[in-house]
Amino acid sequence: MSKLPGNAGVSVLGDKSLEFYRDPVSFCRQRIEKHRSRVFLCRLLNRPTAFICSVQGMRELLCEKSNLFLKDPTDLMTNMYGDTVVTTNGEEACLLRLSLTSLFTGGCLESSNDYITSVCERCLKDLSLSGNPECVYSAFKHLGTELVLGLFLNVRAEEQPELYKEIVQLCTEHWHGLISAPVNVKVPLWSSGFSTALDARDKLMAIIKDKLENDTQGFVGSLRSLPLPDSSSASQHLLLFISALIPKALASLLTSFTLELSGNEQEKMRRRAIEDPDYLRGVLLEVQRLWPPFIGGRRIADQDSTLAGFHVPKGYGAVYISQSVHRDPEVFQQPDSFLPERWSGRNAGHEHFLCSFGSGARNCIGVKLTDVFLKEACMYLLKHYDWCLDPPSQDLEYKWLPVSRPANPPTISFTRLDPTRSDRSDTS
Ligand code: HEM
Repeated sequence: MSKLPGNAGVSVLGDKSLEFYRDPVSFCRQRIEKHRSRVFLCRLLNRPTAFICSVQGMRELLCEKSNLFLKDPTDLMTNMYGDTVVTTNGEEACLLRLSLTSLFTGGCLESSNDYITSVCERCLKDLSLSGNPECVYSAFKHLGTELVLGLFLNVRAEEQPELYKEIVQLCTEHWHGLISAPVNVKVPLWSSGFSTALDARDKLMAIIKDKLENDTQGFVGSLRSLPLPDSSSASQHLLLFISALIPKALASLLTSFTLELSGNEQEKMRRRAIEDPDYLRGVLLEVQRLWPPFIGGRRIADQDSTLAGFHVPKGYGAVYISQSVHRDPEVFQQPDSFLPERWSGRNAGHEHFLCSFGSGARNCIGVKLTDVFLKEACMYLLKHYDWCLDPPSQDLEYKWLPVSRPANPPTISFTRLDPTRSDRSDTS
């Protein structure tokens, strides 16, 4: 058993959190090169932490040894969303997952299909209308927000525009608290971002509780009839599901999809993706492999253990870095190239080597819903539009936090494929 390469430095002074959060991808790339190892040690959030950038390390952390590496109950997520499955461990987490998963599978998932289709149609049908290039990330974030508020809260933009706007505003304020310092200071005429966020959370909770008391239909109706540990659990999970995080992640993937398939050079790829569902699957896998929306996830070692052959003492943190895991050359040849064919060739059956949605016992419970939504949105784009970068030369350098996307919002021009086609008669 070897010692982790790298070092954790001394408490506080040796902490590398700021450097990591500024540019997590360069941070990892530099250390992978320096230590010649895709698993290394650094100090993150003032805790010695094993960084996992290899497929093998990720599989051990999230699958084989998931009972040894636990979620951190003091995570900032708990501060903002209260006790949810995200930061719970053990039997409680298992039972919560069992209950919640039923909302995202089988009949519940199927009953979302019509709404998903209609929201894609409504939000994507006018992309070429203005004749000007679209800021795609904003357009897709709007689509993602309509999806989550309509699906999870029964609030539809076209039916209740005022309430919809109010919730979007509150979700944004709540979100900004997540990324501002957790200092609850409030003085007349000034309040810190965090305290504004807590106010927004209280207002959102009031709306959510009202929905849970009065709506018997849809997701809210199913959620309130689930066996959950206490009376606040349903509302806290709804707060999590409607948070700004999910629309941002959906917009990240859709933005990366349009960028990878933009321009005349990619026309063949777009046509093939319409006709061949397996090829579209490969395209979407390749989009999430290269551009996973979230940089990764964090655990704490509950006892002495090993990862990829390196000793990890009890109390150490362990983070998996999805962007680096996905470019592990041991598994993905030409790791930086966009090659949808790899998923029906050399990497066929290797979907479990990706971790955009986590992996193993604590993977994302929304992964199937996201898959249905993405396929619907991407098919709509492919069937109705050609698109290209406008202007053709743009700086597409990605930033990775809070979700992956080009730091300068890219703009894209969409052209209707068949202008004579009526939107009314074709909702595909
Ligand atoms: C593009 C969309 C999404 C992405 C990229 C994504 C990604 C992830 C990732 C990476 C994790 C694992 C975190 C970790 O290992 O610590 C996760 C967990 C989770 N996701 Fe998602 N997610 C998405 C959409 C959704 C949706 C639509 C829902 C449900 C409304 C959802 C609910 C959850 C929950 C509840 C967990 C925690 C599971 C647990 O801790 O047991 N996600 N997601």
